[in-house]
Amino acid sequence: MHLLPEILDSAEAIRDIRRNIHAHPELRFEENRTSDLVAEALSSWGIAVYRGMGKTGVVGRLDGDLGPGKMIGLRADMDALPLQEHNNFAHTSRNPGKMHACGHDGHTAMLLGAAQYLSNHRAFKGTVIFIFQPAEEGGAGAREMIKDGLFEQFPCDAVFGLHNWPGLGEGHFGVTDGPMMASSNAFEITVTGRGGHAALPHNSADPVLAGAQVVLALQSIITRNKRPVDAAVLSVTQFHAGETSNVIPDSAFIGGTVRTFTIEVLDLIEQRLREITHSIAGAFDCHAEIQFSRSYPPLINHKNEVEFASGVMSELVGKQNVNTSIDPTMGAEDFAYYSHQVPACFFRLGAGNKAKGITSGVHTPTFNIDEGAIEVGMGIMAWMGSGG
Ligand code: NI
Repeated sequence: MHLLPEILDSAEAIRDIRRNIHAHPELRFEENRTSDLVAEALSSWGIAVYRGMGKTGVVGRLDGDLGPGKMIGLRADMDALPLQEHNNFAHTSRNPGKMHACGHDGHTAMLLGAAQYLSNHRAFKGTVIFIFQPAEEGGAGAREMIKDGLFEQFPCDAVFGLHNWPGLGEGHFGVTDGPMMASSNAFEITVTGRGGHAALPHNSADPVLAGAQVVLALQSIITRNKRPVDAAVLSVTQFHAGETSNVIPDSAFIGGTVRTFTIEVLDLIEQRLREITHSIAGAFDCHAEIQFSRSYPPLINHKNEVEFASGVMSELVGKQNVNTSIDPTMGAEDFAYYSHQVPACFFRLGAGNKAKGITSGVHTPTFNIDEGAIEVGMGIMAWMGSGG
């Protein structure tokens, strides 16, 4: 591990910042205390601070002393989850029903640590933009900051972001070129028929039977319509209908999610979902109403930025500890919005530790990060910000 002495010296103070944020989790677009803390820290280190983008977002700008060069964006997310924490360390959540169960407290602290280091070591070319965004968890905080002019005001040449990864040990990185995380989309289908006495089904148009056919047929989109080499998931996760055993209900509700790595595949799936659902409902003398909501787009890593990032990772922790061809996941991440605007690379930072019992997955009540990962995160972000 090639961490700079100053990074190691400040790691304890940054760890305390992480614990402070962990103890005071705030949900999406409510990150007022957290963004105050971030803005005050950046200002105290002489970094120009801009607030209000994406409501609670904070941007810091630091120009290097060696003249003009690339503008590099480094991003951390600040929001917590609506979850009751079950950890019992001293800095456990003080806010009932809210928890930093995805480690965004760590991301924020790491980026602050990198900002502090760079503010003390300005011998680099170009500009670093520290992007502290709200609402990664379902609120598309990245999209809101972009809408508010993030890249007009700070035209970054590249943006980098990381996520702690419980399945990877401290001192390890994972990344891949191309699709890294999926688009996330939700559908809601209401099949309406004609209810009646369950003993006289011929007088009804049964939405349960029609809905059941819809559930089965939707899977054929994945196996028969999209190309086998294109990855995609369609999961029906809700089916609600009826109240009792002897009444055929008027309607049935079907809900679920669709994940893809490209917009083209997503377009195809949405189109087929509509066609199949309407046709089947019609065939059973019912009709269907469909809402298909697109949320986060797929997260696509750019080749040059992956090469740059993995080079820096290898310098930091050794090539043998950097996996540059991890499997993408069908989970979603709003860093995707940056990756559709500017060249970008999102990567995983090892933060699990089996020996210390730090193995819980993200979004669970016992989630934790190995705090040793904080200095690694500080180091990688500082190194990337100064252009390697
Ligand atoms: Ni997260």
